[in-house]
Amino acid sequence: MKIPRHLAIIMDGNGRWAEQRSLPRIAGHQQGVKVVQEIVRECSKLGIPYLTLYAFSFENWKRPQEEVRSLMELLTLYLRSELQTMLKENIRLNVIGDAARLPAGVRSILEQTRSATEGNQRMTLNLALSYGSRDEVLRAVRRICLEIRDQRLSVEELDDEVFSRHLDTAGLPDPDLLIRTSGETRISNFLLWQLAYAELYFTETLWPDFGREDLHRALEEFSRRERRFGLTGAQAQREKLSNREERH
Ligand code: IPE
Ligand code: IPE
Ligand code: MG
Repeated sequence: MKIPRHLAIIMDGNGRWAEQRSLPRIAGHQQGVKVVQEIVRECSKLGIPYLTLYAFSFENWKRPQEEVRSLMELLTLYLRSELQTMLKENIRLNVIGDAARLPAGVRSILEQTRSATEGNQRMTLNLALSYGSRDEVLRAVRRICLEIRDQRLSVEELDDEVFSRHLDTAGLPDPDLLIRTSGETRISNFLLWQLAYAELYFTETLWPDFGREDLHRALEEFSRRERRFGLTGAQAQREKLSNREERH
């Protein structure tokens, strides 16, 4: 099985999972957290170096206050309970998104967890919180404009790589595979620049029902895909072979 270097997941369907059981939506989020714990562990076991989870979008701030508050509480509990596991399993926490909008308590526990796990190397767990890709791109463009104005960067220097370095995901490779659960087939303002050449995988399974077998199914499908990056099929095959030789 081919293992993606960077797997990104849009964890969707918590609310519907709860509604189907006549439970409050938050019960779906609680079950969703359990799945996060299982999937993080499995990805680390499989040797996936980068895992990005879309946990709370910029647009999710518009949800009822009660739901937002419960989600922030759940996030705090999750981080508290996971620190030991992250240390034991050598997992580093990274966060992308507009952190300024998060409650102070959440920001502080995120920062504590981030710095406590900074040196860990097995896997980077990248949480997208208060994250919207258009917001991220605009923040990057504003910074770039300031650097150009102050002559710290020239217009000619601005290329793909320089632009990527100004995004929240600076230092992370682009995702190779995106999984979205719950049957929705849209991107919902997630990693618009970074997903340029990712393989997209959609499943009807709701996030609280997503298990290790579902993850393996997605990875098997990913292994069967031919990634061409604009080349012809024959060229892509040759590239793959020469990359393999370079590695040996
Ligand atoms: C995903 O589940 C979790 C978050 C967006 C925080 P939803 O809450 O969107 O669940 P559905 O889409 O309403 O079923
Ligand atoms: C995307 O799910 C955001 C997260 C999973 C955190 P949404 O449920 O918010 O997306 P839409 O509204 O269906 O596009
Ligand atoms: Mg949803």
